This record gives sequence, structure tokens and C-alpha cells, in this order.
Amino acid sequence: MIEVKGLTRRYGSTLALDDVSFDVAAGEIVGFLGPNGAGKSTTMKILTGSLAPTSGSARVAGHDLASEPLAVRRKVGFMPEHVALYGDMGVAELLRFVAELKGTPAALQAGQVAQLLDRTGLSDVRHRLVGTLSHGYRKRVGLAQALIGEPEVLVLDEPTSGLDPHQIVEIRELIRSFRGTRTVLFSSHILSEVAAICERVLILDKGRLVTGEVAAGLAQDAPAASRNTVVLSWDGDREAVTRALALVTGVDNVIVTDQGAEVLIAGNPVEIRPRLVESVLAAGGRLQGLQDKGPSLEDLFLRLTGAGRDADGADGAEEARP
Ligand SMILES: Nc1ncnc2c1ncn2[C@@H]1O[C@H](COP(=O)(O)OP(=O)(O)OP(=O)(O)O)[C@@H](O)[C@H]1O
Ligand SMILES: [Mg+2]
Repeated sequence: MIEVKGLTRRYGSTLALDDVSFDVAAGEIVGFLGPNGAGKSTTMKILTGSLAPTSGSARVAGHDLASEPLAVRRKVGFMPEHVALYGDMGVAELLRFVAELKGTPAALQAGQVAQLLDRTGLSDVRHRLVGTLSHGYRKRVGLAQALIGEPEVLVLDEPTSGLDPHQIVEIRELIRSFRGTRTVLFSSHILSEVAAICERVLILDKGRLVTGEVAAGLAQDAPAASRNTVVLSWDGDREAVTRALALVTGVDNVIVTDQGAEVLIAGNPVEIRPRLVESVLAAGGRLQGLQDKGPSLEDLFLRLTGAGRDADGADGAEEARP
């Protein structure tokens, strides 16, 4: 549904995108990640026909971007990072206008606009001028206009940034509900959100894709993610057990938590887990729980984008010092 080949974009001497290629299949929801300035917005603007690439090509919803830009625009709903809207139009009025532009039949416009106002939490402000809305409400309008015309492909640039927690939950649910019926590429800096919504993520760093395909929840296909975390809880001497765990072969690090410890292991969990259990028991602990956590998307992101080589324990947990 989205096929990108060798996309490159320069802004003067800045190489914003460097030979990026990827595919998104129909019905897939793919998260687009990367540090600030990585090139996410640039890619999304190109895919929606708002910006021309310096070189490379893309097909979106069956149309070539260079030769059929209008066909692409009709089939794609785009929510840009900075939503530039007609400030002196009413909310519902603006959405009707966009429906008209997208060729929605007149008889269907009112119904579709009413439904979208409801789904994006805008019903109460339907008569307000867009220019008088708060940041979060303006973002909702940006999302609603992207959804007009039920486009096959949605490109959403940080759709939940700046929204309040209630609205974040609703928008996530909305995006999740598109699984299987629409193709969605969305960017976000909230990794837990991406892990919860997407089957797959693309990670961009300095204009290059640093991972082709990674499952969002379980990043285990990535070679960089060969470390796992085992979460242990026990009753008994905290310190003695923690010290014992740190000495087990294959244990990289032990992070003390409220209930017990998170043990970072390097190696085969099937071999290391029994050794962990033995060490808890040997140190006089009564084991209450053992759970595999796997490498988190956050670990993977930090490692692949080179920002967190010393990020172990950076979540504020206290490290055991055996
Ligand atoms: N109009 C522009 N003129 C010059 N440079 C630009 C322009 N737009 C983007 N850039 C540069 O291109 C690079 C990629 O920017 P882009 O906005 O695509 O990053 P991003 O991944 O969306 O970042 P963020 O997470 O901060 O939104 C950056 O180095 C940025 O400074
Ligand atoms: Mg951006």
C-alpha cells in the first residue's frame, strides 16, 4: 500500500533523508520512530505529496507519487505535525469544506462530518472558530480533517502530542480500530504508545532507516536486542538475594524494584532462568514470581539511535552493587 524506494531529500546542505526504502502492506499499522530531526516529518510530507523528494520514488495506494500526485492526495489522509488550518472558519464548516475538496458526495457530507466530530471529541466546539481553539483541540481538527473521506491510507505525524490524557486514550483506540481496514503510518515519541498500537515499527536516525522491520512489542528479531529482562519477586532477605543474583553466570545487571528485582541477562533465557531460581532459593528467598519481560522498544530505540549506550537503569530504579 505504501512502497518507498531510495527516498532522499536535501534542504540546502542538510541531508534530511538518505536513501530510505520500506514497504507498508494494506491494513497494517506501522509506527514511525526516531529522534528529533531524524527525518520523520520530511518522509511523511513526501508520501502525502506536500513535499517533493530530491530523488527516489514512492507508490501510495497504487499510484506513483511523481506522475499521479492528485490521485495520491485523494486516497491519503494526512495529519501534519503543525496543522495549518483556516482560522476564521468554524470547526464543522472547515470539515465540510475539506469533504467537498476530497470529493465526498454532498448528501454524505453532513453525516460524515457529524460522525468525525464525535469520534475526535469535537462535537462541543463544532461552531467555534478554528483560530480560537486551544492547541489540543486544533490537533483534533487536524486529525478529523485527515479522516474525512475515509481514506485508505492514513499518515499521522505525532497525532497524540499535546493532547490531554483522556483524548490520548481515545485517539489511540481510534487508530487501533483501523487495523485491517486502513493502512496507517504514524509517528510518535511515546514508545509505549507505539508498542501498544502497532505490529511493526520503522526507526529512522539521521535520515537513514536503522531497522527495517521490528515487531513493536517483541523486538526479538533485531540482532541488537539479544538481551532480555527477567522480573523476579520473592519474600525474604532483599540484599542477600540481590547479591546472589548478580553473581549468576549470564547476568549482566540487577535492578532493585519494589517487589524484587529486574535481572538483565545476556544469553539463552532457558538456561539462565533455572540458575536464577536456584540462586534465590540458595540465598534464603521464597520465590513468588518470575516473568520474562524481553527487550523493550525503548531499549531498542536507544541502542539503535545511538542515544543511550549507558541507559541501563535510567528509569530511576536503583542499581545493586554487588
Ligand atoms: N524546511 C526546512 N528547511 C531546512 N531544513 C529542514 C526543513 N525541514 C526540515 N529540515 C531539517 O531536516 C531534518 C529532518 O527534519 P524532520 O522535521 O523531518 O525531522 P523529524 O524526524 O520529524 O523530527 P521531530 O521528531 O523533531 O519532529 C532536520 O535536520 C531538520 O532540521
Ligand atoms: Mg517531525
